[in-house]
Amino acid sequence: MRKIIIAIDGYSACGKSTTAKEVAQILGYFYVDSGAMYRAVTVYFLEHHIAITNPKEVARALKEINVSFKINPQGNTEAYLNGLNVEKQIRKMQVSEWVSQVSAIKEVRAAMVEAQRKMGKKKGIVMDGRDIGSVVFPDAELKLFLTADLLVRAFRRQRELLERDELVDLDSVIGNLRQRDEFDSKRKVSPLVKSKDAIEIDTTHITIDEQVDEVVRLATGKMVRPGR
Ligand code: CDP
Repeated sequence: MRKIIIAIDGYSACGKSTTAKEVAQILGYFYVDSGAMYRAVTVYFLEHHIAITNPKEVARALKEINVSFKINPQGNTEAYLNGLNVEKQIRKMQVSEWVSQVSAIKEVRAAMVEAQRKMGKKKGIVMDGRDIGSVVFPDAELKLFLTADLLVRAFRRQRELLERDELVDLDSVIGNLRQRDEFDSKRKVSPLVKSKDAIEIDTTHITIDEQVDEVVRLATGKMVRPGR
């Protein structure tokens, strides 16, 4: 079977990462959470008090940033910033509050997109984000666009934060998701859009297993079929 690229895009907290991670494990593919890369850059910018409106400062900072991924003993991919594991830090609410502004900077996007394309050179990759099917891998063999009701997404995200010992009230979570969706969809550079050739999956009423099964079924179809 040929190796393909699977691009999963969609709104905040609609199950992209969970789906992508499990699909990659089943197919023996490499999983890349592109949002984790923008979150890691945000952690660096916050820690170093980078003025995001100053392009020179941003460019200088980007030269100092290296984001990579390693697989932990449990088989999960974790994000590293300049060699340090930042997996916990990047999921914090404070980072969620800043990440959309950071990821709207064109120099930041250029650096991340370049790194993401390198990771996909050999195919056999599942990448999730906002612009994976539209900008990073426009020729991806399988493109998916995930959606879900805002309230369902907010409950899921609140539970995830709680599992990481961060208690955030539901209104704040809803506010953050709504704000990021709007900001991500309206920004000038690579806005969140559904590619024409992407298959939409609404995850509101389906289980993670059903989501994963559907994506694996679609992927397998592409892997055995010649052409796109
Ligand atoms: O997991 P969640 O849906 O909260 O978001 P994420 O995938 O971790 O992405 C965090 C933020 O990074 C998004 O709200 C976008 O602003 C940005 N992002 C992006 O601009 N492009 C991507 N390919 C991935 C994420």
